[in-house]
Amino acid sequence: MLEEALAEIRAAASLEALQEIKVRFLGKKGRLTQAFKAMKGLDPEERKARGQELNRVKQAIEKALEEREAEIKAAELAAKLEREREDVSLPGLALAPGGFHVATQILDELVDVFRRMGYQAVTGPEAEDEFHNFDALNIPPHHPARDMWDTFWLEDGHLLRTHTSPMQVRYMEAHTPPFQIVVPGKVYRHEATDATHEAMFHQLEGLAVGEGITLAHLKGALLTMARALYGENAKVRLQPSFFPFVEPGVEFLVWWTDPRTGEGRWLEVGGAGMVHPAVFKAADDAREKAGLPRVYENVTGFAFGLGVERIAMLRYGIPDVRYFYSNRLAFLRQFPRP
Ligand code: PHE
Repeated sequence: MLEEALAEIRAAASLEALQEIKVRFLGKKGRLTQAFKAMKGLDPEERKARGQELNRVKQAIEKALEEREAEIKAAELAAKLEREREDVSLPGLALAPGGFHVATQILDELVDVFRRMGYQAVTGPEAEDEFHNFDALNIPPHHPARDMWDTFWLEDGHLLRTHTSPMQVRYMEAHTPPFQIVVPGKVYRHEATDATHEAMFHQLEGLAVGEGITLAHLKGALLTMARALYGENAKVRLQPSFFPFVEPGVEFLVWWTDPRTGEGRWLEVGGAGMVHPAVFKAADDAREKAGLPRVYENVTGFAFGLGVERIAMLRYGIPDVRYFYSNRLAFLRQFPRP
């Protein structure tokens, strides 16, 4: 019986087969159990010898079962590891890297141009108050000039800034001239959108204040910017215009050559002018209220503001400003950060 059991155990290929063998030999009705029971009829001498023999058989079978069980488990584990093996040298799933939006790229480029001229870049709130967006910029309530900027009003009386010019006042309230700053940021206009109008776009504001600052300085700064953007042959033209917070007010144009056609033309890029005395006064009044000295009585300054998307549209021949913020990846992917 032992030989037979050992042979079967050795041949067993699974834990289930092993269990079945175990029941057949060692179970309640198993062969070995039967053999123990069959000892009843033997005389004491024989019974003792038979009992010892059967016990050895039982131990041998149990040991064989245990060993085979360990073998089968080890083999199953090895097979499982082989099956589930990971090839750690396979390339991973790459996440597509994000990119900078084309408007951000142009803005960064512009800020960089002005930094090289000694300007400092500062930013301000998009949710503004009426004072900084309008009143302090010489645009009192009910003044028809407010119609120049269709405004999103917030429920608490604040508004979404319609231009970056409110930062002129915020900066002057807290700083003493001379200084030169640029303010990049988002602005909002409550108007119907079309190919040249969006409800949100970006501006770059510039402000230089000090003793003896003139319109010539403004033109020099704009010319340096135009050359950085469009090359050494770029030209700048100022022509009369009106904004309540500058006097004189101008719009500035850049001579731009279309790289596709080689044709040149004057393009309107933004508004500018000499800071209006009323703006300096508003800044000084606010300073005085805050316990700060008046420091804008003997200085002059220039300010400018330009539309960033417009510059991108000209450079890349983008026909519709609505492409910028409609999240069409096919459009955005055309402008990888160089
Ligand atoms: N803030 C003006 C606009 O949004 C532009 C501007 C800025 C004009 C500074 C003059 C001086 O249209």
